[in-house]
Amino acid sequence: MEILDGNAVSSDLLNSLADRVETYGEDKPCVAFIRVGEDPASISYVRKKEKTAARIGIQSRLKTFPESISQVALLDEISLLNSDSSVHGILVQAPLPAHIDECVIFNHVNPNKDVDGFNAKNLGLLCQEDEKAFVSCTPAGIIELVKRAGVDTQGKHVVVIGRSLIVGKPVGMLFLQKKLTGNATVTYCHSRTPDLAFHTKQADILVAAIGRPNFVTKPMIKSGAIIIDVGINRIADETRKSGFRLVGDVAFNEVAPEASFITPVPGGVGPMTVAMLMSNTVKAYEQSLKKHPTQ
Ligand code: GUN
Repeated sequence: MEILDGNAVSSDLLNSLADRVETYGEDKPCVAFIRVGEDPASISYVRKKEKTAARIGIQSRLKTFPESISQVALLDEISLLNSDSSVHGILVQAPLPAHIDECVIFNHVNPNKDVDGFNAKNLGLLCQEDEKAFVSCTPAGIIELVKRAGVDTQGKHVVVIGRSLIVGKPVGMLFLQKKLTGNATVTYCHSRTPDLAFHTKQADILVAAIGRPNFVTKPMIKSGAIIIDVGINRIADETRKSGFRLVGDVAFNEVAPEASFITPVPGGVGPMTVAMLMSNTVKAYEQSLKKHPTQ
């Protein structure tokens, strides 16, 4: 069994991005983060994204709003960022409060600044296998991890548990693409799938994106499978100063010995999400230069 080390791969990617950003001189890419409410996990994720941006020379702006902000007011804030030429990327941290329709918000982000890839236009371009698409960061990070491990995905059976817009749906699309990192047969499973284990046991590559701690257990996997754990669940742990620890959607200790490759939590998919966000921000910046050349 080999660990797919997201920390190592992401740090490699970030170093290359930092070198690229340095070549831009004084002009720097800038990403704007929007956070609504005080969800501790969202606060922590956005902080991590800000820190990483700063580390590689990308500028960032953070706009925070109370849980009570109206959808219209949030749309107005996005409009301001859409028309601000000094902002190249916009990220609205999910989840948003229940009174706000996430798709309306995501679709309002200028598709050229949609570094999260949640906008309908970018999801459409992804389906069309258009290189210009911004691909959502966690799925893109998963593909990068699998690619760097030298895994041949052609003809493999990928089983995705989860059908979210953020991970489940786009990751299946990526494994389907007519590319070296695709050409897989993809099965989507979700909370209404009967006999889930029947499907998961057939997976050569299993992507667990359910958001339930330790949900995938040893009897649910095929020996030698590649296990991608997308879950980042906080569970109470009195021995920690924070009072919690992070566990994935996969019961790591019992599943790992059966797997050929497995992503740990933390240190697997999580760091890749942040690295791919930086990569998308650089892409948005470079595409903006093509549209508005300075010389
Ligand atoms: N919430 C959980 N993952 C993500 C992500 O990749 N982007 C955004 N915007 N929100 C998230």
